[in-house]
Amino acid sequence: MICSVKQYSTITNGSDIFLRQSTRPPMQRSLLLPSLPVQKSQRSVISVQKALHVSAIESFGSPKPRTSLIKCQAYEADRSQPIESNIELPKADTRSEAAKKLKIGVYFAMWWALNVVFNIYNKKVLNAYPFPWLTSTLSLACGSLIMLISWATRIAEVPKTDMDFWKALFPVAVAHTIGHVAATVSMSKVAVSFTHIIKSGEPAFSVLVSRFLLGESFPTSVYLSLLPIIGGCGLAALTELNFNMIGFMGAMISNLAFVFRNIFSKRGMKGKSVSGMNYYACLSMLSLIILTPFAIAVEGPAMWKAGFETAFSQIGPNLIWWMAAQSVFYHLYNQVSYMSLDEISPLTFSIGNTMKRISVIVSSIIIFHTPVQPVNALGAAIAIFGTFLYSQSKQ
Ligand code: 3PG
Repeated sequence: MICSVKQYSTITNGSDIFLRQSTRPPMQRSLLLPSLPVQKSQRSVISVQKALHVSAIESFGSPKPRTSLIKCQAYEADRSQPIESNIELPKADTRSEAAKKLKIGVYFAMWWALNVVFNIYNKKVLNAYPFPWLTSTLSLACGSLIMLISWATRIAEVPKTDMDFWKALFPVAVAHTIGHVAATVSMSKVAVSFTHIIKSGEPAFSVLVSRFLLGESFPTSVYLSLLPIIGGCGLAALTELNFNMIGFMGAMISNLAFVFRNIFSKRGMKGKSVSGMNYYACLSMLSLIILTPFAIAVEGPAMWKAGFETAFSQIGPNLIWWMAAQSVFYHLYNQVSYMSLDEISPLTFSIGNTMKRISVIVSSIIIFHTPVQPVNALGAAIAIFGTFLYSQSKQ
């Protein structure tokens, strides 16, 4: 039994209270805590196997019966959920449940808002400076730099990783890199809204890959939910005024790559204890290493320089701000999305992701004055409705 007690900035182990008492004279104990006349028979007052953080202690030395002497809220040191124990926890469950809901709500709001901002700046950059391979590399580089600084300054805890972790992460990073570049290439060729309408078809890719490559089967309702997804995306693509095959294929490849990213992630990362934030940080760094040589080969410094001079002469210093904003917001929205994945089920995550796409589609249509035909909007709505049906069927 290990129990941590924090009081007046003095931290001691609960084991001092409950276990070492028999070997220490009372004076010694009182140096650590106010007089606490604990007897051997009271060792069973807290019966918890894991490390505890006792957040509040009241009524030490009170003449009241022992059962009400110590009122505390005990939490496992590494979790925010109360654990089962015989410690009194009045209404703690309800409070922590409400706090958790609030936290997830804040994560979701931040995730969508950051994603909207990223998409807007990304498109502004790509319109002026159409080098999607460089743009993708910069966003990964910026995220990697942010996390290296966070680790160096101890803002974020440095993850404990080993060779097995990086080996398991490698295929995830390859898929993440392909998915990221493909989406950026797509957005350099078509409207942001169109890329995201096609990207809302990701569940269809997930089911088809799982069914035909992994041999998994699903309830009929899941297959049926694919009809509006595929039909809606198809209708939106056919009626898209600025249709471009590279833009369409980029979004499709991104969908396929992200399905593989999720499969590799699920398979390889089981049992690895790295937080969502650090997991995404490591993913960014590995993706950056993978992507850089390809970005140089496909576009290269000569093209980047010439393109930059032209774009800068037209846009001015704002171009640099836009590039910085798209890079920073790309990292932030992904980081928040991985942090929320820590807190919610993959199903809730996928519903959140669909809602995110609606925010991006609507806001980008408004900001970029994207021409939309009614039948095109109908296709998008059907596809998105299909993703909701898909989520419900999977439930
Ligand atoms: C990217 O650049 O990686 C894509 O825009 C990602 O899109 P998503 O996170 O909305 O799937």
